[in-house]
Amino acid sequence: ISPSPKKRKAKRFWLNSSPNPSASSERPTLPNLSFPHTPPTPAVTMAAEQSAEHFRGQARLPGFAAPRRYDLRLTPDLAACTFAGSVSVSVDVAAPTRFLVVNAADLDVSPGDVHFAPKGSGQVLLPVEVTSALEDEILIIRFNEVLPLGEGTLVIAFQGTLNDKMKGFYRSVYELNGEKKNMAVTQFEPADARRCFPCWDEPSFKAVFKITLEVPCETVALSNMPVVEEKVNGPTKTVYFQESPIMSTYLVAVIVGMFDYVEAFTADGTVAPLPHYLPQVSLSLSPLGGSCWPHFPFAGTSVRVYTQVGKSAQGKFALEVAVKTLILFKEYFAVPYPLPKMDMIAIPDFASGAMENYGLVTYRETALLFDERHSAAANKQRVAVVVAHELAHQWFGNLVTMEWWTHLWLNEGFATWVSYLAADRFFPEWNVWIQFLEESTTGFRLDALAGSHPIEVDVNHVDEIDEIFDAISYRKGAAVIRMLQSYLGAEIFQKSLAAYIKRFAYSNAKTEDLWAALEEGSGEPVKTLMHSWTKQQGYPVVSVKLKDGKLELEQTQFLSSGSEGVGQWVVPITLCCCSYSVQQKFLFRGKQDDFNLSGLVECQKKDDFWIKLNVDQTGFYRVSYDEELASRLRHAVETNILSAADRYGVLDDTYALCMAGKQKLVTLLHLIAAYKNETEYTVLAHAINTSLSIYEMMAVAAPEELVNMKKFLIDFLEPFAQ
Ligand code: BES
Ligand code: ZN
Repeated sequence: ISPSPKKRKAKRFWLNSSPNPSASSERPTLPNLSFPHTPPTPAVTMAAEQSAEHFRGQARLPGFAAPRRYDLRLTPDLAACTFAGSVSVSVDVAAPTRFLVVNAADLDVSPGDVHFAPKGSGQVLLPVEVTSALEDEILIIRFNEVLPLGEGTLVIAFQGTLNDKMKGFYRSVYELNGEKKNMAVTQFEPADARRCFPCWDEPSFKAVFKITLEVPCETVALSNMPVVEEKVNGPTKTVYFQESPIMSTYLVAVIVGMFDYVEAFTADGTVAPLPHYLPQVSLSLSPLGGSCWPHFPFAGTSVRVYTQVGKSAQGKFALEVAVKTLILFKEYFAVPYPLPKMDMIAIPDFASGAMENYGLVTYRETALLFDERHSAAANKQRVAVVVAHELAHQWFGNLVTMEWWTHLWLNEGFATWVSYLAADRFFPEWNVWIQFLEESTTGFRLDALAGSHPIEVDVNHVDEIDEIFDAISYRKGAAVIRMLQSYLGAEIFQKSLAAYIKRFAYSNAKTEDLWAALEEGSGEPVKTLMHSWTKQQGYPVVSVKLKDGKLELEQTQFLSSGSEGVGQWVVPITLCCCSYSVQQKFLFRGKQDDFNLSGLVECQKKDDFWIKLNVDQTGFYRVSYDEELASRLRHAVETNILSAADRYGVLDDTYALCMAGKQKLVTLLHLIAAYKNETEYTVLAHAINTSLSIYEMMAVAAPEELVNMKKFLIDFLEPFAQ
């Protein structure tokens, strides 16, 4: 989470190459999707004059040529751990250029293996030079003449190694009948498709993919789309897959190995038609797949869980969750699942937990398989949440894709949040929203450090992308989305989200595009509100006082060191007094403010008066109450009037404030004692962990108090033990 040292170098390029240096550090926007392209921006008309050197050290690929369709053929050799391939890319040349620049890494490409055929010319142009810029992971292909504008086909043959690094095209090892075997697997996110085939390996270069694999006859070959034809030729077979809808390279997947599967269908599946304003290029270019895609409705989406041979029964739980989730998300996003099948597969060697490849989701075995007899309940929850997370990406990420990695947080934060929404819908008895608070707590902890970073970060080099798959993107990201959803209301949020998905389907979007849709749908100042949370690091602690019937609020940035930061937020305050039946909400924008709240005076007269801000802990902020309000809340905890989430929150806030030296330890201990009748597992576990951490601190800082602390702990824990 530290700022990247490479930032300045990459930024300088865009400032130099842009006609308007103050405009932004972003690449000029891509030409639109239709053939032929609209005239290029001035920045890209320079391409014809440039030398190969101009393409080195850049944050992003030049925009003067863009892929429309890939015809990719791969032949993995599972014994030798190598592969051969060829890619034929329909390219749209939008500005005069002598160059084509594509990503490639760890691939062998000889200059003689590259050519370009402008459409309709009958010509085949051979490059005069093919330079591999290793650091930039690009191939710079130079031709003698300026390429004609419009469509052409770039053909590249290449060779590579099925590596052991769990990225790109790699090998994973499994056992079959006591014998070790290799399978070939891809993992391309964020930027490793280039290790499998030369491509425009950035999320905004969406194109259709027609994949063909040549594999041993006895193996199962999988990719994003269903198989349309298999031709056996001796010991090998050629497997042709249906053409995909337009998608980003990081979502392409290929797997070859021996597997079993279990299968089910969503009864209501229909294929989503491509919107009329998008080019239907894929149809005219694809004799095999195009006839099926995208207009033919069919009976249901096939959902399969692939496992090692003999273990398919362990895939049944994930299968059940997947079918339910696809149906739920079709309703939630108001768009059907866009592909004709969904395969999910457990991979023995896997770098992360799971990966949302379009139509072929890969998982670490522990995140997909569940054995009713041997696995723990926690594994079952993990499987449900991971499956829901990856399936959420099929819409949020795959159908609507981030324009650039700066918006990764939205992809991951959103999928994390909505996976809890799905798990809560299917398994209400799990109380997953309380467990979600444990996710937020990790976000809170990291973001209270001076060295944290904003949710939205500039990404100027490929090496910087991996760094942002962190708790700030996932956990704080999910928490601020939850905060917004609960402030706007579930229905308005869902409807606006559906409008956003519809608007940007088969395209790319930025964080601001989502805010705009939510602002339109709600009439609330979503952009201003959310910018304060995504563009600055940290979060506030809101101090509350009750004075003369008014609520006095003050916000300061919370830092675990105890010092005060300078941040200021638009805080969506929710609160309730004495009961959950009436809740109030408003935006707290200033540093300090007084609020006259209706019902407060009446409520204050009651003996058991209490007031709770951040109802059900849906906000990403902490609350510090004055002594009177804190003591009334403690009583509400003791008498079990507060919701479990609020019981968790009161404790977590008090603990954090105490550790930062903002509240007395005795206040915290007094509060912990109020949890003596706690029945919710997550809340009680938090109270116990909090007590133990105090005990450990005391052992070092005030050993003379340990005897008393021990007694406190025994008094607190004994009734539970009994
Ligand atoms: N898109 C990620 C997978 C990923 C992670 C790719 C890091 C590249 C780098 C996927 O959707 C994801 O978030 N997976 C999580 C599991 C999820 C349930 C939080 C993971 O792998 O931990
Ligand atoms: Zn994800």
